[in-house]
Amino acid sequence: MNVETKLRIDNVSHVYTGVDGESLQVLRDINFEIARGEFVTLVGGSGSGKTTLLRIVDHLIAPSSGVVLVDGQPVQRPGGKISFVFQTDCLLPWRTVIDNVAYGLDLRGVPKKEGRDRARTYLDLVGLATFANYYPHQLSGGMRQRVNLARALAVEPDVLLMDEPFAALDAQTRELMQMELLRIWRETGKTVLFVTHQLDEAVFLADRVLALSARPGSIREIVSIDLPQPRDLDTKRSPEFQMYVKRLWNLIESDVRRGFQDEGAPNN
Ligand SMILES: Nc1ncnc2c1ncn2[C@@H]1O[C@H](COP(=O)(O)OP(=O)(O)OP(=O)(O)O)[C@@H](O)[C@H]1O
Ligand SMILES: [Mg+2]
Repeated sequence: MNVETKLRIDNVSHVYTGVDGESLQVLRDINFEIARGEFVTLVGGSGSGKTTLLRIVDHLIAPSSGVVLVDGQPVQRPGGKISFVFQTDCLLPWRTVIDNVAYGLDLRGVPKKEGRDRARTYLDLVGLATFANYYPHQLSGGMRQRVNLARALAVEPDVLLMDEPFAALDAQTRELMQMELLRIWRETGKTVLFVTHQLDEAVFLADRVLALSARPGSIREIVSIDLPQPRDLDTKRSPEFQMYVKRLWNLIESDVRRGFQDEGAPNN
C-alpha cells in the first residue's frame, strides 16, 4: 500500500451551541491519517458525529479545536481538493444530466465546451453516457446517485467524502452501486472517506473501518479489512467477511443502543 498521507485529522474536537445556548460536545480528540488512494469507512451510532466530522474535513464548519490537513496543508475553504457526496442526490431539476455533472465546473469558471467534455468523461465512467440529455426526473434513484457521483468526480478532487450516499436505494441497487464505486475507486485512485450505517457495506468497501463511540464521538477502534481486492458479491459470503461484520457490531452495539435510548428519551 502507498503510505503517503493524503488526509490528516489532527486532534479534532467539536462543540455545538444549541438554540438555547447550551453546549453539546459532539467530537472528542479525533486523530487519524488516511493514505493516498485508501478507502476508509466510518461507522458509529446515530448522533455520534459522523456527518459533523465530514463537514469539518470539507471545511464547511470550523472545528472547535484541532486541524485538518490535506497533503500536509490546512484545508482553507470548501471544495478545492475535496468533493462531498450527500445522501440525497441534490441534482438541479432544470439542468440536464450533463449540465448537472458540469455544474461544479461552471461554478469554477471552466469554459463551457471543456466543462461538457470533462463531464462526458465522468458520465461514461459511471455508465450513463447515453443519458446525457435526460433530466433528473427521467432517471431512477440509482441512476441519479450515479450522476451525483459523476458530478463529484468531475471537479477532479483528490479526496471524496461520502455521507450515506446509498441509504435511499433498494437493496439490489445498493449492492450494484457498491461494486460500481469500488471499480471507479480502482480506476481513479481517489482517497475516500465514506459514512454508512450498514456494517456489511462498511466492510465490503473498506481498506480500514473507523468505528466511533457514542457522542461525543471518539475513535473506538480502527479495523483493517484484510480481504483481497478486487471484491465481488462472493466476498460477502466468505466466513472472514462475516467475522469482520460481527466484530464491528460487537464494537458498536452498546453505543448504538445507548444513542437510540437517548434519542427516545430527551429528558433523561
Ligand atoms: N448545526 C448544529 N447545531 C447544533 N447541534 C447539531 C448541529 N448539527 C448536528 N448537531 C448535533 O450533533 C450531534 C451529531 O450530529 P451528526 O449529524 O454529526 O451525527 P451523525 O453521526 O451523522 O448521525 P446520523 O447517523 O443520524 O446521521 C447530534 O446530536 C446533532 O443533534
Ligand atoms: Mg449523519
